[in-house]
Amino acid sequence: MELSRKGIILAGGYGTRLAPLTNSVSKQLMPVYDKPMIYYPLSTLMLFGIKEIMIITTKKDLNSFKNLLSDGSQFGVNIEYQIQEKPDGIAQAFLIARKFIGNSPVVLILGDNIFYGSNLVKSLKEADANKDFATIFAYRVKDPERYGVVDFDQSLKILSIEEKPKEPKTFYAVTGIYFYNNTVLEKVLSCKPSPRGELEISSINEEFLKEKKLKLKILGRGTAWLDTGTFDSLHEAGSFIRTIEQRQGFKVGCPEEIAWRKGWITNKKLENLSKKLMKSGYGEYLINLLKDKSKISSL
Ligand code: G1P
Repeated sequence: MELSRKGIILAGGYGTRLAPLTNSVSKQLMPVYDKPMIYYPLSTLMLFGIKEIMIITTKKDLNSFKNLLSDGSQFGVNIEYQIQEKPDGIAQAFLIARKFIGNSPVVLILGDNIFYGSNLVKSLKEADANKDFATIFAYRVKDPERYGVVDFDQSLKILSIEEKPKEPKTFYAVTGIYFYNNTVLEKVLSCKPSPRGELEISSINEEFLKEKKLKLKILGRGTAWLDTGTFDSLHEAGSFIRTIEQRQGFKVGCPEEIAWRKGWITNKKLENLSKKLMKSGYGEYLINLLKDKSKISSL
């Protein structure tokens, strides 16, 4: 039987670009409108069916994440935790999560990455189904030099990936969601720290590229990949979510709703979850889902 993919959410780092907000609270727990930031990447994983999840965070923030998400059973998933002692690079997540990953394929999502769009889940499901290959997702941005940048030809064949290049070859940033087969565990062992002292995720991607095992998917212009790294982008991300939610009356990145629509939690459980959240309106939203008879409303 094929092993199901394990999910990792990396929520480490010092969040220094958001200080003093992040002096005592993890960046990935900052509010993005009406939810803590980590609800969004968690929801992204849940939306395409990932149920075994590890959250990697700092020693200082571990308890805050546990207080918020506990073992995940309230969302019908299983959440484990590990500590990243120092922010030594995204790829280090695979060393830390080695045992958790075991022989399975894995998907890593960065805890500050917010994805939104109607074709997203289909694309993520396709990447998930392709268990022998690795898949990365690119998105056009105005300022590619801030990211990993991918160059590709018309058939989406990857030509190069460069981490924060001074002169980017394209406008396409590699987003913070990475699908890998189990060989990522070998690849990370031979990965050397970059000049900035980090185990770069781009180095892992290059290894898959050398093996001709790296696929590229483009998130089109109808999709949003939001930045939360600065005061302004964090504010804008919150405004974006607020705008969509106010207009549609649906929440974006609501793990309780996703779990319920997927049948991972019962009506009763949803009702119980809503009780603690009544005063903020979040609970009312959950309880109203039960009243809304048409379960076909898309996620
Ligand atoms: C990291 C990766 C980069 C990627 C980005 C996506 O950058 O190194 O390749 O494009 O995440 O959010 P960092 O956030 O470490 O600067």
